[in-house]
Amino acid sequence: MQRLAVVLLCVLFAPAAVHAQMKGDPATGRVIAERWCSACHLVSPRQTSASADVLTFMAIAAKTGSDLKSLEAFLADPHPLMADPGLTRRDIGDLVAYIASLR
Ligand code: HEC
Repeated sequence: MQRLAVVLLCVLFAPAAVHAQMKGDPATGRVIAERWCSACHLVSPRQTSASADVLTFMAIAAKTGSDLKSLEAFLADPHPLMADPGLTRRDIGDLVAYIASLR
């Protein structure tokens, strides 16, 4: 029984783990950003208004530079002010790829 559980867990989580090693997809990241982040952040140069006085994604991209690991770490553990949309590692990879593309 326990063995079965372990096998099941491996089957369920292995694809996600494999994907996490791969580069994110900026186009998907943009869709996620527009859905989950645009209420507070300006997530693209075309967006004209956001509700809060928060760094834009362009500013975040400029500030982060090539340190994408720290951006990834930040998004894996959102701070309290930020709503937690329950991002998967794949979502985070896509978001980081999108933000990096704004530089
Ligand atoms: C409810 C409003 C809100 C939403 C939604 C939101 N954020 Fe934020 N975010 C904030 C605020 C406020 C800050 C700055 C507060 C702080 O740094 O403690 C912040 C800070 C950040 C920072 C750190 C910027 C820095 O100082 O380096 C990143 C990166 C970020 N948000 C990314 C995202 C992403 C990606 C999403 C969508 C998945 C998102 N945020 C959704 C409010 C929000």
